[in-house]
Amino acid sequence: MTSQQHDDLSRGDLTGRVIIVTGAGSGIGRATAHAFARAGAHVLGVGRRKDALAQTAAAYPGIDTHPADLRDPDVPRQVAEAAAERWGRVDVLVNNAGATQVMPLAETTAEGITSLFDLNVTAPSLLARAALRHLRRTKGAIVNVSSTYGHRPLPGGAHYAASKAALEQLTRSWAVELAPGGIRVNALAPGPTESQALEAAGLPETTIEQIKHEEAARIPLGRRGEPDEVAAWILRLADPATTWLTGQVLTIDGGLELT
Ligand SMILES: NC(=O)c1ccc[n+]([C@@H]2O[C@H](COP(=O)([O-])OP(=O)(O)OC[C@H]3O[C@@H](n4cnc5c(N)ncnc54)[C@H](OP(=O)(O)O)[C@@H]3O)[C@@H](O)[C@H]2O)c1
Repeated sequence: MTSQQHDDLSRGDLTGRVIIVTGAGSGIGRATAHAFARAGAHVLGVGRRKDALAQTAAAYPGIDTHPADLRDPDVPRQVAEAAAERWGRVDVLVNNAGATQVMPLAETTAEGITSLFDLNVTAPSLLARAALRHLRRTKGAIVNVSSTYGHRPLPGGAHYAASKAALEQLTRSWAVELAPGGIRVNALAPGPTESQALEAAGLPETTIEQIKHEEAARIPLGRRGEPDEVAAWILRLADPATTWLTGQVLTIDGGLELT
């Protein structure tokens, strides 16, 4: 890509932008990859399951996939370079891959904490670092996916909540640190949203149904969210037209935070 093309793009919309979306094989990440692709962007979708990523990319020529485990500290650099080599630039990093874990204090283990923080905190940090030189060139953006529970207590899931609180604080600090380079950093904090997260946490079907029912009853708008409703706001935070917003955490949770 020539520097002229680079400049032309930097005045435009999402068309031709290069977006890294982690956790693109399901839920919010899949919806986000689709939304960016529909907006004309090139998307590199990352996740461990090759088949799930292939399903995300099916019928979307704008989506390429990079199967990898983000807990491996070498992977973030490989992801950033794969996107840059494929399309010559990186405009947006969406740190969406994450896991939740039921872990009451009485059952808390060092392995449990480390595993959660490796994915929810360390991987987004190493990815942001790996993407940094590309984002500086494009004056790009980072969107971190937190949770309502990044700023609310979650009894029985304190370390999930703490990992998201860490991500929110990284968002604020990076926003100030990277502002001189024109890079914006924001976070989206979804409430309970339909996805594979509860299954991935290893919960039995009956418990999952109970949790979903209780959550829907507590949410003022009366239901859990859909991934597309969350993805739409990830796009808005990433959009180059959102020129003067940085360091913010936007909660989208049907009003749960107010209760
Ligand atoms: N759904 C909710 O209620 C909710 C609420 C608040 C916040 N969030 C946050 O939203 C984000 C997306 O979650 P989701 O709800 O869409 O859940 P999800 O369907 O479970 O998606 C998580 C994605 O992350 C990927 N992933 C997990 N471990 C990985 C690893 N080690 N390396 C690479 N990729 C990995 C998974 O793919 P593989 O298994 O194939 O790797 C999966 O596609 C998470 O950060 C979550 O904490 C979700």
